Amino acid sequence: MARDLPKYTVPSLTPEDGARVAAILQGRLDALNDLALTLKHIHWNVVGPHFIAVHEMLDPQVDAVRLMVDATAERIATLGAAPVGTPGALVAARTWDDYAIGRASTTEHLGALDEVYVGVITDHRRAAADTEELDTVTNDLLVGHLRELELFHWFVRAHLESSGGALSTAGASTEKGAAEAARSAVTSDTAP
Ligand SMILES: [Fe+2]
Repeated sequence: MARDLPKYTVPSLTPEDGARVAAILQGRLDALNDLALTLKHIHWNVVGPHFIAVHEMLDPQVDAVRLMVDATAERIATLGAAPVGTPGALVAARTWDDYAIGRASTTEHLGALDEVYVGVITDHRRAAADTEELDTVTNDLLVGHLRELELFHWFVRAHLESSGGALSTAGASTEKGAAEAARSAVTSDTAP
């Protein structure tokens, strides 16, 4: 989508810098909207003995991420740009694939969700670094998100961690690979 230079932006930023920050935030808006939907998809599709624990763990994460979505979109508007929140635009702009797993065990979804959080947090940290000099208020917003996202990531990883501190998903680079690694770690734990 063509981006016009904003007619105004926050005091002390140039319109060009306002547009640059807004473009960075638009990428984070897409990622956070995608994450909120993916977390609900997992909430609905987990099965198995730990269903209720994982099902109920995810709703507060959805609520928190939806608040991040709103704050991100409103910061874009505050900067004088137009936030784009439609699903078609999100899918056209995103650089990642749809979440790869449907109905599956809690362990498999948690393994895949570990990968999802790695992707979102890595890109969010890059966006925070890219706005550190340009706009400290946007940087502060993103750092605040990271504080919560990294906590939620730990909630997920604590399910995948051995008493020695190793993650069952270590070395995985795809959602399906992480799901399989998490599943086989549980199977080998319980093998006679
Ligand atoms: Fe629900």
